[in-house]
Amino acid sequence: MKNINILNKLCFVFVILFINNNGFSQNTNTVSVRNKVTLKEAHKGDLAIDTMLLDSYGLLPENIRQFYMESRFIFSENRDANFTNIKILASAKKHNMALIGGPMLGNLKQDKVTIWLRKSSTAPLTVKAINLDNNIEKIYYKKNIDPGVEQRIVLDGLAANSDYKYEIYENKLKIAEGKFTTAPTSEEKGLFKLAFGSDFHKVGLHNPNLVTQIIKRDPKVMLLLGDIAVDDRENKINMHRSDYLLRDMSKPWRYLSANIPLYTAWDDHDYLNNDLSGTPERFTTDDVDALRAMWYQNWNNPKYKGEGIYFSTQIGLVEVIMLDTRSCRNVEARGQYGCYLGMEQQNWLKETLKNSTAPFKIISSGTMWSDDISNGKDSWGTWDTLAREEIFNLIEVENISGVLLISGDRHGTRAFNIPRPSGYTLYEFEAGTLGGVPGPEAMAKDTTNQLFGYAGTDVIAFGEFIFNTKIDKPEVTFRLIDEHGEILEKHVLTYDQLTPQKK
Ligand SMILES: [Fe+2]
Repeated sequence: MKNINILNKLCFVFVILFINNNGFSQNTNTVSVRNKVTLKEAHKGDLAIDTMLLDSYGLLPENIRQFYMESRFIFSENRDANFTNIKILASAKKHNMALIGGPMLGNLKQDKVTIWLRKSSTAPLTVKAINLDNNIEKIYYKKNIDPGVEQRIVLDGLAANSDYKYEIYENKLKIAEGKFTTAPTSEEKGLFKLAFGSDFHKVGLHNPNLVTQIIKRDPKVMLLLGDIAVDDRENKINMHRSDYLLRDMSKPWRYLSANIPLYTAWDDHDYLNNDLSGTPERFTTDDVDALRAMWYQNWNNPKYKGEGIYFSTQIGLVEVIMLDTRSCRNVEARGQYGCYLGMEQQNWLKETLKNSTAPFKIISSGTMWSDDISNGKDSWGTWDTLAREEIFNLIEVENISGVLLISGDRHGTRAFNIPRPSGYTLYEFEAGTLGGVPGPEAMAKDTTNQLFGYAGTDVIAFGEFIFNTKIDKPEVTFRLIDEHGEILEKHVLTYDQLTPQKK
């Protein structure tokens, strides 16, 4: 514990500047970074580095820091420690931490949303949801709470496409609050805004400037495509927990997760390590099961559909399909049909695309769909071109409407046309710049099919789609927005462009 005390003393040279009673600044002025953590350091993630991340944009209140330090020590010393550890719960009590995780919104529907959180005590919760259009209040109770075990509270019976605020109380004391807007019905014509991005790499989770700009744009949901909160922890499940604790102590992260429903999938670094997938040598199927269980516990996604962490969900007019492009790979069959998604997921994806009645579909891949950057390095292009071709062909043959591809992994932000022999073009957008970490070149060697490109360290930015169905010819507008709120890119695609034409 000696190192912890030294770090604490060092950290207290500075004054808390930007934290208000809600634990996050409403001031939109840019906050300067105090501790710059590199990607290499994030991958290492030792005590000193994780502590630097914790205070990277401003010092946390002392009780939060102390709780984090004490709990991280317990995780690092004990491979089996989890959030129900008696010492972690005692530390939370000592430091007056009613919540040790969350709130995190997820699974938004027209009549409900789910709040994920982790409590330090058995004290029951009351959640108030107030419809801001008519002030109608609904109250939800959560009893029988296991301390340290993730809770999911479904706020149901809500009105569609309505603005709500919510407040969470423990023993009449408000311990958290946030807002959300319920999804529109699938028939409703209007505007729907969705944000997305990848590669926070732990670093970006602590960036108040980026979170402020995301919230300011007011997206109704956000999709995160991997390399989010855990970095290179391999099968050390205790350190996965430690990284999720670090996430949950971040004030910008809590502000984001309490106010925008999140949908997540993993990539290599939050799965095992760089470019690892499936069950590589040194690891076992038990490790994969444990990693999946860890994922289920620490995110708030809709119901998973198979063995992996993939799912689909309709939000208003958009079917969101998030693939598991890591854990279902068959590493012994690289290059053969079915090795990338696994046959269960490949067949599920085909059925999901065929059966969806949503006019628009977003399909996420943790790695890139196209091969223009790094020659397909660890993605479809070097693993399973047959399965990719089968999906692209199915979209054309079945005239599947409104398809957008999104991706991550190759740090930077880019967009590509993927022209098909039929004349139809698929569009891929990548916003792998949430952490502003280095990666490959911004532009491909052959730029024929590239719409734009920024290298990973050029910008800290996120992607946004606005679906407009209230005009005669529906369209989607993509924007790339940086941490200062500047719109760097704008591209409009019509529904007709995104839909194969019937022959
Ligand atoms: Fe990454």
